[in-house]
Amino acid sequence: MKIDAYFTPVGLVAGDLAGRGVVVIDVLRATTTIVTALANGAKAVIPAATSEEAVRLASNLEKDGVVLAGERRSVKIEGFALGNSPREMTAAAVAGKTIVLATTNGTPALVATQGGDPVLVGAPANFKALTERARAILVQRGALVIVCGGRDKQFALEDAYTAGRLIKVIRKGIRKLALNDAAQQLVDADLGEDVEFAARADRFGVVPVYADRRIT
Ligand code: MLT
Repeated sequence: MKIDAYFTPVGLVAGDLAGRGVVVIDVLRATTTIVTALANGAKAVIPAATSEEAVRLASNLEKDGVVLAGERRSVKIEGFALGNSPREMTAAAVAGKTIVLATTNGTPALVATQGGDPVLVGAPANFKALTERARAILVQRGALVIVCGGRDKQFALEDAYTAGRLIKVIRKGIRKLALNDAAQQLVDADLGEDVEFAARADRFGVVPVYADRRIT
């Protein structure tokens, strides 16, 4: 069995992962937002690689049933009904609607995995359910691909942490498992406690100052 992980979707294009079982993770915020929208009754989410593509895709759908959503530089796109915050994906805003979503990293990552079968959308928000589906794919198919959205084509800690946790959980009890270098790094790095530590605000009152090659 084999798990291949990618820190970012850079270099992947639609069709590259055709027929392979894939998990896409973009914790802050695209995949968290998608999970929330569907959990709150959205009919479907259509990922778009750009805001222009989102407008084009939405124009082919029934006006009443479609909601344009997305961000650029984390801010709602002008003229779109919603931004990319999971907190905006309330039942009142999304139930029964098709959301066309354009984000900087997450939705281009999803577009790049098009053709994967299936492509699961993962985040801490649906972690338990995700691990069950992902493990079933690994066991049945003998292979799984995990693609992190990353940030501006770079490694993103929250995606790497979630991917590493996912690998740790789904590999339990599987004896022969090969990991590509990135997947191995995600497991070995054991980022969980660092993320928890770093996420707690105001742990300390010190403000270090860097001067003359020393931080004091
Ligand atoms: C993305 O896809 O790049 C994000 O989800 C960024 C964001 O919403 O701030």
